[in-house]
Amino acid sequence: MSAEILNGKSLAAEMRTEIATQVAELKAKTGVTPGLGVILVGADPASTSYVTAKERACAEAGMYSQDVRLAAQATQAEVLKMVEEMNRCPLIHGILVQLPLPRHIDESVVINAIAPEKDVDGFTPVNVGRMTIGETCFLPCTPHGIIQMLLKAGVETSGKHAVVVGRSNIVGKPVAQLLMRKARGGNATVTVCHTGTRELSAFTLQADILIVAAGRPNTVTGGMIKPGAVVIDVGVNRVPDAARPGGFRLVGDVDFESAKERAALITPVPGGVGPMTITMLLHNTLESARRAAMRK
Ligand code: GUN
Repeated sequence: MSAEILNGKSLAAEMRTEIATQVAELKAKTGVTPGLGVILVGADPASTSYVTAKERACAEAGMYSQDVRLAAQATQAEVLKMVEEMNRCPLIHGILVQLPLPRHIDESVVINAIAPEKDVDGFTPVNVGRMTIGETCFLPCTPHGIIQMLLKAGVETSGKHAVVVGRSNIVGKPVAQLLMRKARGGNATVTVCHTGTRELSAFTLQADILIVAAGRPNTVTGGMIKPGAVVIDVGVNRVPDAARPGGFRLVGDVDFESAKERAALITPVPGGVGPMTITMLLHNTLESARRAAMRK
């Protein structure tokens, strides 16, 4: 048996067309153009490529984006100054500080400085808290994109055992929260595994839905997957490949070749979760602009 592929690229394209229509309607009705402010510190190639993709997606959706790129040596005060300027700027409805930040900058101080009403990443303590207790908030983009993919693919989550591998603030923890919500795309029994987990396969083999966000290639191989499971691979890892123009290729955290022989449904890398993350960022920025237009 070979798994069906859960194509994030085509779902993302469909949703972005709808978002672009809604952006045009908002502009026509209120004169407000949704705006995203993006701050990138340093020139990490993966981060640079994400940020460029986010800006391109904004332009394609008819949104405004402001791009601030600071040198890797920029001070925390300089980053905070940019965040504060964007907090005040009426053209910007969403602020994204690309993570990770260089080590000399305290990520939590920077995230805390983002106005919660512009926190379209859903990373501030206010948004995390609201999500956790089920209040209206900006949901973090990758976890929200994963839930949207499951819903669109008609995957039942209610009563299923979802196993999350990874406990990051960006993916592991929030996706576990969303999967356990008493809501559509939730109501699952959730297990979270991490680097302290002994015998990872004992847990992954029980998963009806397996979400892998460990940040390491081959964390999950076919033999660790329950036959017929739904596998969502969040990993984006660059591995050297002399045959490719850039000298590398992208692989996920799951060994795709062996996994597709066990899973019923699996996301590829690239073209799985990645395009959905950016789509949910556009969704949140549009929502933030709508709220700003109502306050005008
Ligand atoms: N780094 C990796 N993923 C993300 C994301 O979704 N948002 C931000 N700001 N940084 C990231």
